[in-house]
Amino acid sequence: MDQKPIGVFDSGLGGLTAVRELKRLLPGEDIVYFGDTGRVPYGSRSKDTIIKYAQQDVAFLRTFDLKAIMIACGTVSTTALDLLSAENPIPILGVVEPAAVAAAGSTRNGKIGLIATQASIRSGAYERYIARENPEAQVFAKACPLFVPLVENGRIHRGDVVIETVVAEYLAPLKEAGVDTLVLGCTHYPLLGEVIGDFMGPDVALISAGGEGARAVARRLTEDDALAQRDKGSARYFVSDTVDDFARLATAFLQEEVAGQVQQVDIEKEILNHRLGIRNHAV
Ligand code: DGL
Repeated sequence: MDQKPIGVFDSGLGGLTAVRELKRLLPGEDIVYFGDTGRVPYGSRSKDTIIKYAQQDVAFLRTFDLKAIMIACGTVSTTALDLLSAENPIPILGVVEPAAVAAAGSTRNGKIGLIATQASIRSGAYERYIARENPEAQVFAKACPLFVPLVENGRIHRGDVVIETVVAEYLAPLKEAGVDTLVLGCTHYPLLGEVIGDFMGPDVALISAGGEGARAVARRLTEDDALAQRDKGSARYFVSDTVDDFARLATAFLQEEVAGQVQQVDIEKEILNHRLGIRNHAV
């Protein structure tokens, strides 16, 4: 048993796709979420910048006493997981391997589509894990850089001509290739699940990196005998830019009111205060 919270982070809203699944699977867990909304998107940045941001995100989360950190971000998982694991003494769990394993297990025709950020596609990490699981599988990969800004702006719904047009533009080659499984390799993308599902059709299985990552966290905590023993856990959300848009979209996506639980923080100040022993978390 371990009553400490799980830390979860992403560049913005995307990690909520993992939080929703964590809450469903492990309702007793306390969650501390950080969304780096002041610096989103990560996926179009260089490897060095992504690593620097990820190290700061983890340092902020570690100002709390956590039992594990979930990198609810495909971009950071593909780019910095090994480094962050080596630098931190608590389990740091990513989304790439669980999503790749799920995709390799799901495909029937051996054709897997992969959509993710430019940094994730550039890393080749999803392809490596899929090849390990299923060496025969063909992966059709496509970076979709416009998806994250559109999601962060709430352009996620059926009938929104902008998102429907962009989805069709990006996904047409994968549909044409005949993929039967599509990895939503950026955690923002399941927020577009309805629009993507409508375009790809009912015969294409959608694999959520956030959802699969959350299931892997649940398995790991169970194996480590590190689950919390309480009926209902709490969730606190921290963001690096204004609270309002995040709170509104998070409330709609999680289907619970989160406005009172979201705070804006300056993570560099919080990290410094923590080192100096000064009271923290923008209270
Ligand atoms: N949600 C993140 C991911 O899974 C980051 C997207 C971004 O900031 O570009 O890749």
